[in-house]
Amino acid sequence: MKNKENVTSLTEILQNMKRIAVLTGAGISAESGIPTFRGKEGLWKTYRAEELATPSAFSQNPKLVWEWYDWRRGLIGPKEPNAGHKVLACWEKIFPSFALITQNIDGLHQKAGSKNILELHGNIWKLRCTEEGTITENHEAPLKEIPPRCPDCGALLRPHVVWFGESLSSSTLHKAYLLSSSCEIMFVVGTSAVVQPAASLPFSASEAGAKIVEINPDPTPLTSYSDFSFRGKAGEILPLIDEELNIESQD
Ligand code: OAD
Repeated sequence: MKNKENVTSLTEILQNMKRIAVLTGAGISAESGIPTFRGKEGLWKTYRAEELATPSAFSQNPKLVWEWYDWRRGLIGPKEPNAGHKVLACWEKIFPSFALITQNIDGLHQKAGSKNILELHGNIWKLRCTEEGTITENHEAPLKEIPPRCPDCGALLRPHVVWFGESLSSSTLHKAYLLSSSCEIMFVVGTSAVVQPAASLPFSASEAGAKIVEINPDPTPLTSYSDFSFRGKAGEILPLIDEELNIESQD
């Protein structure tokens, strides 16, 4: 009931908003069957991140790191976007200015139809040449060769994702801060809000005067700073808000 009342007061505000930003995390893909990182079944609980998602792990054992990514690609590949991803893809069409910033590397926002996505942590379907830096899209799962090599120069390819100990692309981060500090409202969906610098984006939005809407079954460090806090699943709450908004897409 509380969520329902919250939805009504949120949609009243949303009707008049022009600049919307959304920050998503692993939780939005949980209902599609992709494990989150820090939950009970979290990916980092089964595998030690420092053994697999780091530059030093890759330089010591690229085959092992690639086997893990190949396994994850195999897990993610058949998964379909859920109602949460679909609502966000629809909002891109109805709001005059809509920014989708994601920490996810699974590509499910694209699969749902979102076009304009700022991927803070890269994309598991992109491979990067360790010599030339060229980025190619590759959807093979399993990969034909592990570790894969650059067809042009023969150097090792790596997943085009951000590993522990690496920095985010400065231009991507710059854009993310600009979008956060210029939006009127920011939805923060399915993230534990503990990994920096992504976790600071809602604070930057809030400091610039934006309303913060959190959607998460569990409280996070952001909860007490949120103007609206929905305790529930993204695939249930986002459609509730969308239904109440009742704005037709321009297509
Ligand atoms: P986490 O696994 O840390 O957090 C997932 C959040 O989603 C938790 O707060 C859950 O309560 C919430 N959640 C679970 N199911 C949900 C649902 N159906 N709807 C909404 N929320 C749900 O994932 P992230 O916050 O995305 O970085 O993690 C951030 C970064 O940590 C990842 O991008 C990754 C990891 O290290 C890199 O790999 C660089």
